[in-house]
Amino acid sequence: MPTGLLAVSYIGASILFILSLGGLSHQKTARRGNLYGIAGMVVAIAATALAKDVTGYEILIPAILVGGLIGAVVALRVEMTGMPQLVGMLNSLVGLAAVLVAIASHLSPPTDLNPAEFTILAVEIYLSVLIGTVTFTGSLIAFAKLQGLLSGRPLLLPGRNVVNITALLVLLWLAYEYLAVQTSGVSLLNLLPVSNVALIHKALADTGLLALLLAVIVASLIGVHFVLAIGGADMPVVVSVLNSYSGWAAAATGFMLGNDLLIVTGALVGSSGAILSYIMCRAMNRSFLNVILGGFGTEGGAVVEGEHGDAVATSTQDTAQLLANAKSVIIVPGYGMAVAQAQGAVSDLTGRLRKQGVKVRFAIHPVAGRLPGHMNVLLADARVPYDIVLEMDDINRDFPDTDAVLVIGANDIVNPGALENPNSPIAGMPVLEVWHAGTVIVLKRSMATGYAGVENPLFFKDNTQMLFGDAKDSIQAVVGQLAG
Ligand code: TAP
Repeated sequence: MPTGLLAVSYIGASILFILSLGGLSHQKTARRGNLYGIAGMVVAIAATALAKDVTGYEILIPAILVGGLIGAVVALRVEMTGMPQLVGMLNSLVGLAAVLVAIASHLSPPTDLNPAEFTILAVEIYLSVLIGTVTFTGSLIAFAKLQGLLSGRPLLLPGRNVVNITALLVLLWLAYEYLAVQTSGVSLLNLLPVSNVALIHKALADTGLLALLLAVIVASLIGVHFVLAIGGADMPVVVSVLNSYSGWAAAATGFMLGNDLLIVTGALVGSSGAILSYIMCRAMNRSFLNVILGGFGTEGGAVVEGEHGDAVATSTQDTAQLLANAKSVIIVPGYGMAVAQAQGAVSDLTGRLRKQGVKVRFAIHPVAGRLPGHMNVLLADARVPYDIVLEMDDINRDFPDTDAVLVIGANDIVNPGALENPNSPIAGMPVLEVWHAGTVIVLKRSMATGYAGVENPLFFKDNTQMLFGDAKDSIQAVVGQLAG
């Protein structure tokens, strides 16, 4: 493909990616945004593969086919509840790719560079390795935590800030080492005592590979430590931060390979991920800096003692009666609605109540479920009208004027302890203040805690009743009662 056509294709793909991000920011245009993204990626892959200096099609074509097949199978099989894990896993692959490409560039750098260009390339290689490694190991730990393979509790090493700062200083020294050896061929590592692996040591040190591999080890530990130190309820922000890191890793790779499209795409992912992280931090009343430095949301928190009192159970008949007599109802969906796949039944219930003249609206907390927009996607899929689905800030003041609230499989996002108990691990996180409504019905299977592992005083309030059971079964039974 001629260079001019390649440049035009890259500009076209960049525009499609920007249109895609714009489309994805609204429910009505999300489907179109997704299509723009797919089209942009097809143009990008085709143009890159057909560029004039590309060879090795016997490897490239099978790799694209096998990768595409694996991606398609995984995407078709993943449950909505498994999406955050999938995002974590995909982020880790971007990080790994950045590290491998950087090491490959180190091993066979272009031969036609002048000294200044060579120094710039060395900086790009080192940065790619650092960001890529932190993204890779951090995302793997995030995956394991979200999948339940590792505990969600934060790991707080004694003196962990000292550990972090020491690791950063070591990385700075290794950067100096790597650049020194790349640009002048002189390395401090060569002055270390000669060991019985002296030959290997010298060969590696001479090429800077030893410094690079040591940087991989230290950055791996930083990635692992960064995510292990984060408490359960704060994981959404971490996944979003790692997503942003994966974008910057791709951008660094783009600089290294001199590929403009990779720079633009990486910067789009990096900056949109950073903006999303910032928005989520604000929604959860957390500091962005604490997230980036790790150990986020874990300072000073103590597990809340169980509130003593009795929770009152109710039945589907009483719930149906309450809803039929209400003038206004707010439904608060949470992770349990996704687990139960209750969105279709919730949509039926909404339609029936609206037909009977009840004003029904939905209240969506920014971190409800397990990924940004989780509840919006499920409700849109079940054809709940967009105009009755409201964000937290737009509906939180309306609870005092509401007759009944149905909390469907939600827990942390309606926990009054976040506002009332300064010792709560989720203290300060804005929540949906459902307890100001006339009656609150909570649909869940047991008295178990939610994702953050925090007891919920809402269940013991005078105006709260528990409707125990699988959310889908309960809602279907309520719809049956209303129909009968
Ligand atoms: P959670 O606090 O996790 O509560 C979900 C509740 O659903 C559980 O208490 C569970 O109680 C109930 N449940 C599970 N399966 C059910 C079923 N089949 N039928 C009925 N109920 C069922 O969810 P939330 O209120 O949506 O809060 C979200 C939490 O996840 C926050 O802590 C948030 O920080 C975190 N998080 C969010 C994200 C994003 S980006 N949204 C990502 C990762 C983590 P039972 O077991 O008693 O049924």
